[in-house]
Amino acid sequence: MGEESRRVHLADMRIRHLPDIIRIERESFGLPWTETMFLTELGMPRSWTRVAVAPEGTVVGYIVCRKAAGAWHIMDLAVDGSWRRVGVGGRLLDDFLQDVRGDECVLEVRPGNPAARSLYCSRGFVEQSRRPGYYRDTGEDALIMVREKEERADGLLLAVETSCDDTCAALLDLEGRPLAAVSHSQDAVHARYGGVVPEVASRAHVERATVVVKETLRQAGTSMEDVSRVAVTVGPGLIGALLVGVQTAKGLAWARNLPLTPVNHLHGHLASTWLTAPDVSFPALVLVASGGHTMLVKVEGRSDFQLLGETRDDAAGEAFDKGARLLGLGYPGGRELDELAESGEAGSYTFPYGLKGEDTLDFSFSGVKTALYYLLRDMGERERVKKAADVAASYREALVGALVWRLRIAARREDVSSLAVAGGVAANSLLRRRVGELGGELGLRMVLPPLRYCTDNAAMIGAAGLSGPVLWPGEYEGLQPRASVALEAVPGGWGDPK
Ligand code: KG4
Ligand code: ZN
Repeated sequence: MGEESRRVHLADMRIRHLPDIIRIERESFGLPWTETMFLTELGMPRSWTRVAVAPEGTVVGYIVCRKAAGAWHIMDLAVDGSWRRVGVGGRLLDDFLQDVRGDECVLEVRPGNPAARSLYCSRGFVEQSRRPGYYRDTGEDALIMVREKEERADGLLLAVETSCDDTCAALLDLEGRPLAAVSHSQDAVHARYGGVVPEVASRAHVERATVVVKETLRQAGTSMEDVSRVAVTVGPGLIGALLVGVQTAKGLAWARNLPLTPVNHLHGHLASTWLTAPDVSFPALVLVASGGHTMLVKVEGRSDFQLLGETRDDAAGEAFDKGARLLGLGYPGGRELDELAESGEAGSYTFPYGLKGEDTLDFSFSGVKTALYYLLRDMGERERVKKAADVAASYREALVGALVWRLRIAARREDVSSLAVAGGVAANSLLRRRVGELGGELGLRMVLPPLRYCTDNAAMIGAAGLSGPVLWPGEYEGLQPRASVALEAVPGGWGDPK
C-alpha cells in the first residue's frame, strides 16, 4: 500500500479535470455532485481543491474543501475504483491537512462506509454527532466527524523588518526568546549618496529579503515547517521599503495558512526592552532615539504605552549623523562621532540646548546642528582637524545632555519602576553611561539593550508582535503599510486611524 500512490501527483483542480471527476463522482456516490456544483466550488475564494493525477494524465482522485465560520469542511473526497486502497485518498487528505495546519476540520460520512471512516479516524477525526436521515437516496444518517483545532503552544514566530535600510528577519519561540536574527545593512549601498535613497533601499530589500529569511531559518537550524506565526513591520518607515517586507511576510504566511501580525516599528523599539530583560517591571520609562525618531514613552504594559514627548524637528540620530557629516566622518556617522568624542574634551565648546527653559518633555535638535555648522565654518582648516575630537565631544555632550535632561524630568514626574533606552542612538557610549548613572541615582531598574537590539532588527519586531493583533488568512491579504503612523496605532490592527 502506498507504493502505487507515489506514482500519482497532486495538482490544483481545473475545469479540464471535470470530465474525469464527474465519472468518478458518479461511480462513487448515490447522490453525486453535478458539474455545476464543482464549477461553483472552483470559483469560490475560500475553497480548497486538489486532484490526484496518474502518470498518463487522468484524474484518479480529488478533494474539495471549503472554509466557513472558522472551520474547514471537507465536502467531497473520492478515488477512482481501480485506484482504491493504494493511499491516494490519504495523500489528498494529508496534503490538505498539512496546508490548513491546526485549523478545525469537519465532514459528513456515511456510517456504511467503513473505509472512509477509518481513513478519517487515522488522521485524528472523531465521530461527534449524527444528522438523521441526511442521505436522501438511502435515508441513512450522516456521521459528523470533527478534527479539533490544534492549540499550538509550540511553533515559532518569524519576524520581518524592512522599514528603512536594514533587511532583517528573526525567529523567536512563543515565549519571546530569540533563536536567530539576521540583519543585512545597506549602509555600504547608501554611503555614496550620503543618505538613504528610498528607491535604492526598496530594490536592495527585494534582492535580500528572501535570502535573509532563509539564513535566519538556517542559523536557527529549522525550517518554515516549524513556523506558526509571522510578524512584520507595517510602519512608520519608507513606504517602498515597507512594501517589500509586508509582501514577503504575507506570502510566507499565506502559503502556509499562518496568522500574520502587523507591527508598529516604534512598538518594536519599545519591545527591545523586554527582549533584553523579559522580567522588566512596568511602568517603564523608555527613551527611543534613532535615526528617524526621538521620543519619551511611558510603557504600562507590552501593548500599552503613552507618548510623553518627542522631537519637534530633527531626530537625535539625525543630529549625530549631520554632525558626523560636517566633521567629515563616516556614514551614517553616529558611531564614528561617538568614537572620536571619546578622545575629546567635552567642555571645549558650548552648544545651545533645544527648548531649554520650556516646561516640556519635547526635544529640538535643529539649533545645535546649525551652531556646529557655524562653529566649523569659522575655524581654519588646520584648527578644524586639530580640534575635531574636542568639537565632537562637546557636540555629543549637547545631544546626550538634552536627552538625559528630559529623561530625568520624566523619570521623576512619572511613577515608573524601570528606565530603558532603545533605538540606534542607545548604542551611544556617553548616553549609556549617563542613563546608567541616572538609574542608580533614582533607584530604578535599568535596561540597556545590547547593540544588536538597539539598531533596527527583527527580533524586537517579533517581541512586539507576540503582543500584537493576530490576523488570519482572509483578513490580511489586503494589508497595506503606512509611511507615518502614530505610536499607539498598528495599521490593520488595533486603533487603526482612518
Ligand atoms: O534605530 P536605527 O538603526 O534606525 C532608525 O530607525 O533610524 O538608528 C540608526 C541611528 C543612526 O542615526 C546612527 O548614526 C545612530 O543610530 N547611531 C549612533 C550610534 N550608533 C548608531 N548614534 C550615536 N552614537 C552611536 N554610538
Ligand atoms: Zn528604528
